[in-house]
Amino acid sequence: MANIRLDKFLADAGAGTRSQVKELIKKGRVKVNNVIVKKSDIKIQTDEDFVSLDDKKVSHCEFQYFMLNKPGGVVSATKDEKEKTVIDLIDVSKRRDLFPVGRLDKDTEGLLIITNDGVMANKLLAPGKHVNKTYFAKIEGCVTDETVEMFSSGIDIGDDKLTKPAILQIISVFSKEEQYESEVKVTITEGRYHQIKRMFEKVGMKVTYLKRISMGPIFLDEALTCGEYRELTQEEIELLKNAHQ
Ligand code: URA
Repeated sequence: MANIRLDKFLADAGAGTRSQVKELIKKGRVKVNNVIVKKSDIKIQTDEDFVSLDDKKVSHCEFQYFMLNKPGGVVSATKDEKEKTVIDLIDVSKRRDLFPVGRLDKDTEGLLIITNDGVMANKLLAPGKHVNKTYFAKIEGCVTDETVEMFSSGIDIGDDKLTKPAILQIISVFSKEEQYESEVKVTITEGRYHQIKRMFEKVGMKVTYLKRISMGPIFLDEALTCGEYRELTQEEIELLKNAHQ
């Protein structure tokens, strides 16, 4: 049970920014337990009090969870002096201490979970507990069964340990003007810096396009075009929370 100010309760529920909801309260549009209240600082017991705005129930929601289809060209950070960040892509009115769960390289596209739930993010990213992450990649080079075997045995990418077993699936291999190009899916369970690019580099190939398509139980919603985002559904939030019990 939480005990929080009325204006915070309403802002957390997405009724507006803190100053916008203060105005709504002043105008008498907010009721607590069916009585109009005009003070923003009264305390709400989140699991007991009934709050309404224009006579419609407002439910408390402490945390925000979004799925972003990250476009290339933006950095996975909360703030940056020079570059556009993934948080800049979220509508200002929705931003409440949001941060990305892990990082994708600036040129990598695809699924990025954005939240303000630090406990859930830590669970997903805790060392040794990283959930599976699957990527679609275009590769300059001919990916073979031998490459698949190397990925599953672990690769020395210059860190103190080999990479953990990764699942490499070949989608297609074709040659153009004596150059091979391959399309693959790769699943890794770690989150090392430039991990997939470095793994392919070690086997003499180059990643030319990388897109994350899933993280643990969450799959990128194909309806989201690059740069679009949506809230996670309640079911997706539960799946994430239970991903590492
Ligand atoms: N591996 C990479 O090389 N880059 C990413 O963005 C994610 C995984």
